[in-house]
Amino acid sequence: MSNERAQFVTRIGAIAATVGSAVGLGNIWRFPYEAGKNGGGAFLLIYIGCVLLVGIPVVVSEFIIGRGTHKNVAGALKQLAPGTKWHWMSYMGILASLMILSFYSVVCGWIIEYLFQAVSGNLSGHSAQDYTNMFNAFVANPWRTVMWTVLFLCINFLVLRRGIKKGIEKVANFMMPVLFVILLVFIAYALTLPGATKGLKFLFFPDFSHLSPKVAIGAMGQAFFSLSVGLSCLLTYASYFKDSDSLAKNATIVAVLDTLVAILSGIMIFPVVFSFGMEPEAGPKLVFEILPNIFQQLPCAYLWSVMFFLLLFFASITSTISMSEISITFMVEEHQLSRKKATLLNTGIGIAFGTLCALSFSVLSDFTIFGKTIFDLFDFVSSNILLPLGGVFFAWFVGWYVDKKFVDNELTNHGTTKVSIWRRPLFFCIRYFAPIAIIIIFLYGLGLFDTFL
Ligand code: PHE
Repeated sequence: MSNERAQFVTRIGAIAATVGSAVGLGNIWRFPYEAGKNGGGAFLLIYIGCVLLVGIPVVVSEFIIGRGTHKNVAGALKQLAPGTKWHWMSYMGILASLMILSFYSVVCGWIIEYLFQAVSGNLSGHSAQDYTNMFNAFVANPWRTVMWTVLFLCINFLVLRRGIKKGIEKVANFMMPVLFVILLVFIAYALTLPGATKGLKFLFFPDFSHLSPKVAIGAMGQAFFSLSVGLSCLLTYASYFKDSDSLAKNATIVAVLDTLVAILSGIMIFPVVFSFGMEPEAGPKLVFEILPNIFQQLPCAYLWSVMFFLLLFFASITSTISMSEISITFMVEEHQLSRKKATLLNTGIGIAFGTLCALSFSVLSDFTIFGKTIFDLFDFVSSNILLPLGGVFFAWFVGWYVDKKFVDNELTNHGTTKVSIWRRPLFFCIRYFAPIAIIIIFLYGLGLFDTFL
């Protein structure tokens, strides 16, 4: 079976596709608004700590399981823990992937709308307040938001139908570097604004009075979401890696690039927020209100806006492809469904729940569970609960359960790659630090320490 599976053609292709999964709306849309909502600097600090000490170890754990077995998540767990029920954990990742796909596709739909507006020239020549009104009017329109969500999922379907190599790798290889350069151009502009230093201060100077359980959980959830880790997405991608790829190196490259893009996006957004007197706590709409303000100040506004939303679209689709791969590979390999049927099923579920999420801003805006709309609930439960729990499981599984020789062989590519000085600290984090830190942040977030602190 494993010999028949596709593999990424080149090492660069494997990394680019994994970075493609990680870099997406999480960096450019979610990071700025989470940082804005949670006080800026203090959030950033915990976020970076989580990426380094929790995120990377869990990424490596997923890589080890995926590449070591060349199987989907359930198949891999069955192989490594035969005769046990551990493979049931795969359902948690699949659930998380479908929840994320649902609300993520809604935001991808917003991007299509903005791309459409940008192409028709409607994005320039307005005041900051106009952009806010424009966004509010758009998300309150149930037909339009659902239409774009469905359209996005159909495009996602078509790319997935073409299979792993052709579809994903080609797009990822080309788009990521361009997006990076565009971010730099926008930053150069944002830094010339009168409020720029205030924005940078907000992002980089931690104000610890903002530190709270909510901030800690938010930062950890953001780290997991942004790295695409904890739901077996990276496990599934690593199952397509070659045996000669260095897992620790790949994990570090992915984490560094992903974090860099998030921080760059913060450097782009916050100077504009402060310079235009907007609220950093604006939530999911933040980026959509801010970006048009940036475009219209630049020469060739039309070109920038079209290009930016086009690239954001590609950055997002490389992420939705990766989250869809989890359930598709699972259905194909564990339930012998044809790839076409599995992809259809994945898209159907996305459309059903995506529609509910899209309507959370209009007809379903008053329908709340635990005080959250369906959109917010899907986001919160998947990122802040399911992914960290998945992270504890993968770290524990690799650190304590799986045969040590297997782990060593994967980390060192059967003794051919040196992991040198990083091996011990990495292992310490996988076995002890990551699972314990996640559990502590979790309990802290649930308020269990309130009586002691
Ligand atoms: N990491 C992606 C982003 O930042 C989102 C994602 C989450 C992708 C989970 C796959 C799995 O946009």
